[in-house]
Amino acid sequence: MSVPLFDLSRLGPQVDEAVREAALRVLGHRGYVLGAEVEAFENDLVTYLGQGGEECHAVGMSSGTDAQLALLMAMGIGTGDAVISTPYTFFATAGCIHRTGAEILFCDIDPATFMMDPESLRSLLSSLKRDADGFLRSPRGNRVRLIVPIHLFGAMCDMDALGKISAEYGVEILEDAAQILGGEYPSAAGVRKAGIIAPTSYVSFYPSKNLGAAGDAGAALCLDEEMAVKLRRIRNHGMVERYYHKVVGGNFRIDAIQAAVLRAKLPFLDGWNATRRANAGTYKSAFAEAGLLDRVTLPAEPHLSSGLKNHHIFHQYVIRVPERDAVMARLAGQKIGCAIYYPVPLHLQECFAYLCHKNGDFPISEKAAKESLALPIFPGLKQEEIHEVVNGIAGALS
Ligand SMILES: Cc1ncc(COP(=O)(O)O)c(C=O)c1O
Repeated sequence: MSVPLFDLSRLGPQVDEAVREAALRVLGHRGYVLGAEVEAFENDLVTYLGQGGEECHAVGMSSGTDAQLALLMAMGIGTGDAVISTPYTFFATAGCIHRTGAEILFCDIDPATFMMDPESLRSLLSSLKRDADGFLRSPRGNRVRLIVPIHLFGAMCDMDALGKISAEYGVEILEDAAQILGGEYPSAAGVRKAGIIAPTSYVSFYPSKNLGAAGDAGAALCLDEEMAVKLRRIRNHGMVERYYHKVVGGNFRIDAIQAAVLRAKLPFLDGWNATRRANAGTYKSAFAEAGLLDRVTLPAEPHLSSGLKNHHIFHQYVIRVPERDAVMARLAGQKIGCAIYYPVPLHLQECFAYLCHKNGDFPISEKAAKESLALPIFPGLKQEEIHEVVNGIAGALS
């Protein structure tokens, strides 16, 4: 039996119908860029995120990457600044930092969760010197302005610990919530949805995300209204009124058709996240039944004990297995979908050679890149398909 890594057609006829209706509506009124469809989606997103009573602002963007770039531009991050993130993640985060002209500083990840390790962050920050004005400086002399932790694969970073360290050192946090719309965090200050814990954040609606558009789309999120005003300007070439440019921005506008599709799909999101979690539960028992728990490390669930349903929304189901390449070859031979997220840590990417990092600089990220393997987890995946995947892995490890 072949098993796809991801299959959007399994979301079902009800979703297909809602998406088609939304797209046809936009094709009918021909208001293709920004406008009422976008405002309606932004309002729905704010309502969804603010169910705990928190106020936030959502600004639809052309992609998650563009949302991050717009946020960095709105904060005035650029040449002479430095931003801290982790090397084991998708390229966009570091790519946007580079594009502003700022320096990228990496700190390593927690081996269990794959996400920013608070101790590694503390050790990086404590190694830096303050200048005469009290600003924290990187070894290259740039001012450390921001920390970007990434909620990877649908799990939440240890935001309370990161928040405490960032406050101690006077550096702000921008949350990369690209992979975690709907995730919840048991903060000491109360339950918070991912994306509205730090003052600024962004999400991606790439089609394979838990809430996916019919193409590229994203949103910047922020708690401060003034920041939302800046972001709306920046997404449209910095215009205040037509052809009057207050600042330099870009074309980061979201298409109305994407906003309409996302708005139609948003009511299904919590159900899909629950299905992903149920699939993860089936994997857990299947791996246990196959006697593989000492050969394969299952995804950590860092905030499981909080009792929050959405402590993990399994955007990806990423196991660790030292024989990863052999397992992958076996699964590929059986036409079972799987993928490596991410094979080359960012500090070793060719385009960042100018940072002069080498193998061994971030050993936990490097090991994760060698051992991690993403298995199918999408809503609509069948129980027998999960068993087929686990049997394939058992075959490879026997
Ligand atoms: C962690 C992370 N950050 C940023 C992005 C960028 O989002 P987009 O693909 O919408 O530009 C992604 C998308 O895959 C991501 O996974």
